[in-house]
Amino acid sequence: MIEACTPERLLEWWNFLDRAFGYEPPQSYRVDFAPLFEFEALPSSRLLIVDGKIASSAALHPATVLTAAGPVRFGVIGAVATEEVQRGRGYSNRVLLEIEKAAGELRLDVLILWSDKAEFYEKMGFHAAGKQEIYSLDNLPGFTQGARTLRPIGGAREGWTLNAVRSLYTMHRLRSERTDRYWNALAKITSCRRMEWVGKDGLVNAYLGFHRGRDMQNIIHEWGGEARALHALVLAALENNPALLWLTCPALEDPIRALLPRGESPVLEGQLALVKPLRTLPAGAFDSFWFWGLDSL
Ligand SMILES: CC(C)(COP(=O)(O)OP(=O)(O)OC[C@H]1O[C@@H](n2cnc3c(N)ncnc32)[C@H](O)[C@@H]1OP(=O)(O)O)[C@@H](O)C(=O)NCCC(=O)NCCS
Repeated sequence: MIEACTPERLLEWWNFLDRAFGYEPPQSYRVDFAPLFEFEALPSSRLLIVDGKIASSAALHPATVLTAAGPVRFGVIGAVATEEVQRGRGYSNRVLLEIEKAAGELRLDVLILWSDKAEFYEKMGFHAAGKQEIYSLDNLPGFTQGARTLRPIGGAREGWTLNAVRSLYTMHRLRSERTDRYWNALAKITSCRRMEWVGKDGLVNAYLGFHRGRDMQNIIHEWGGEARALHALVLAALENNPALLWLTCPALEDPIRALLPRGESPVLEGQLALVKPLRTLPAGAFDSFWFWGLDSL
């Protein structure tokens, strides 16, 4: 039997996911991927129940991505797991087919997920797409006395002022359309460190997030704002976290990568995600794609 998760089953699902993904307290899957478990998200989740217990699961989070070619309706897939003793019986395959059906009913354009299990998903019609790069920040220059590189007036602060960060976020050309609810759900990812730069007039003009959950330790995975303020903020973050890395995409206008020494290569480069189009999309639609937000799930 395959059904959507009900609020009564949530706790069982969370415990199931922590087991399947090997999370140990105080870390947990439900915190790292909090938006998947919002009340409104539950109807598009799918649980396969065997003998009254969850044997396999997946979650679907619809998100509209604003691209140069117009909005694209993505279905972000998460919480794909099967109880260890039940693996190899085609359960995950069945759950993913149900998720695809749900995505079709919601008229989504494409499914997307982040995983290192490419082989498993390729069997189900997914293919690698998009690009990402991760840079070391060891050689990020500081501010000098030269007028153009003077440190901006202001200071770094822990946390995000939601309204300010929201409006800076909308300046990204490629991004997901985050609703009020989604921003609130993101705030429940308490495993993320968030910082912002407050300028001389008391206004927040740059932000970043790092250490998000188990997967993004030491990675500044989300950032935005005015270039010099962002530079100052990254330097402030590095003071207490010298191993931080910078996540970006070759197609992105990136004020921090532009400051790294010429010729510096990324410590990691590769595909961004796995996608499965549900309708015909323009050829090359995913060649250089990137967006802020979905990977903050
Ligand atoms: C990955 C996982 C969800 C697979 O669940 P499952 O119920 O055993 O998968 P299925 O039985 O439906 O397998 C479907 C197909 O994928 C194959 N497959 C399963 N796990 C695979 C893996 N790790 N790598 C490659 N192929 C895999 C199966 O052989 C099967 O192929 P077939 O259709 O040709 O026979 C399960 O191993 C799991 O929960 N792992 C831990 C959590 C995790 O890593 N989740 C995915 C993160 S994105």
